[in-house]
Amino acid sequence: MVDTSDEWITSRTGIKERHIADKGVSCSDMAVEAIGRALDMAGCSREEIELLVVGTVTPDYRLPSTACVIQEKMGLPNAVGYDIASACTGFINGLSIVAPQIESGRYKKAVVVGAELLSSFTNYQDRNTCVLFGDAAGAAVVSGEEGESGIISTFMKSDGRMRELLWAEVGGAVNPYSPDFTYNGRDKIMMNGSDVFKVAVREMARAAQAVLEDAGVDPSQLAMVVPHQANIRIIDALAKRLSVDPERVYINIDKYGNTSAASIPLALDEANRAGMLKSGDYVLMVAFGGGLIWGSALVRW
Ligand code: ACO
Repeated sequence: MVDTSDEWITSRTGIKERHIADKGVSCSDMAVEAIGRALDMAGCSREEIELLVVGTVTPDYRLPSTACVIQEKMGLPNAVGYDIASACTGFINGLSIVAPQIESGRYKKAVVVGAELLSSFTNYQDRNTCVLFGDAAGAAVVSGEEGESGIISTFMKSDGRMRELLWAEVGGAVNPYSPDFTYNGRDKIMMNGSDVFKVAVREMARAAQAVLEDAGVDPSQLAMVVPHQANIRIIDALAKRLSVDPERVYINIDKYGNTSAASIPLALDEANRAGMLKSGDYVLMVAFGGGLIWGSALVRW
């Protein structure tokens, strides 16, 4: 489709495979699947969920929220659901929103899901972006329980001055779709990759340090770092800045590419199902995306 090569993609990004949803599958369909599996793993009924937070840049509709579509498809009768627009940081921002609400006792059980149908939002004529993105969804159940385990600290920051480094110009209320408008891919993700890259490395390291300092945890105590899977070189640079052994950094970008808000829960789930996370482990999650917006969450497993 574009002038590229497997060698370029692999060496510059670490990506070998990406998954594209079947025609007719929506963002909410993937989210329903992921939430269903998370509820099974947590032994939690649909009736128990009181809060549903969805991180996505590919909502089913402009109105209503994808959370409300998911609620209807799954039957979550006792929940309030809403979407948050934080691009690749959607899952981490979801955790940061949910954690204090659970801690305060306002809600007992919540679901955070990152779900992205990025194939619907990718310009397959733009080699700068079309080799990067895949479709996926991942979910976590968050509940309030006594004990040492839980979300220990979260950190979020954004800088809207850099919003045009990673954005879609057309399709919102400022530049709505119109028959006499030439889009030229401007309704899909547009990215200045090298500028985003530099900010991502710097701010992901800072975000990681912020939660570690807040919790009084040294990087050497981390059992696992689960970073947003945007580029293997960003992940390697982050590990170096944090002085974390690369073996303790979870990487699956080779199998899925960049799945935006889904990438961290996808990686976390793989690590968990592979038995790599043990009770008491410190797990650091850190993400970065369009906004620009970045954040981190430190969890005691
Ligand atoms: N195949 C071949 N050549 C390519 C391709 C491709 N697929 N894409 C770009 N190139 C070319 C460019 O045109 C450029 O050519 P030129 O020098 O003749 O102009 C050259 O390769 C180098 O381009 P760079 O953009 O400097 O390449 P870089 O090494 O920075 O890699 C990449 C590009 C992979 C996009 C990288 O910058 C990156 O990963 N950036 C961060 C992405 C990110 O983290 N995004 C945030 C999350 S996404 C979200 O929020 C939805």
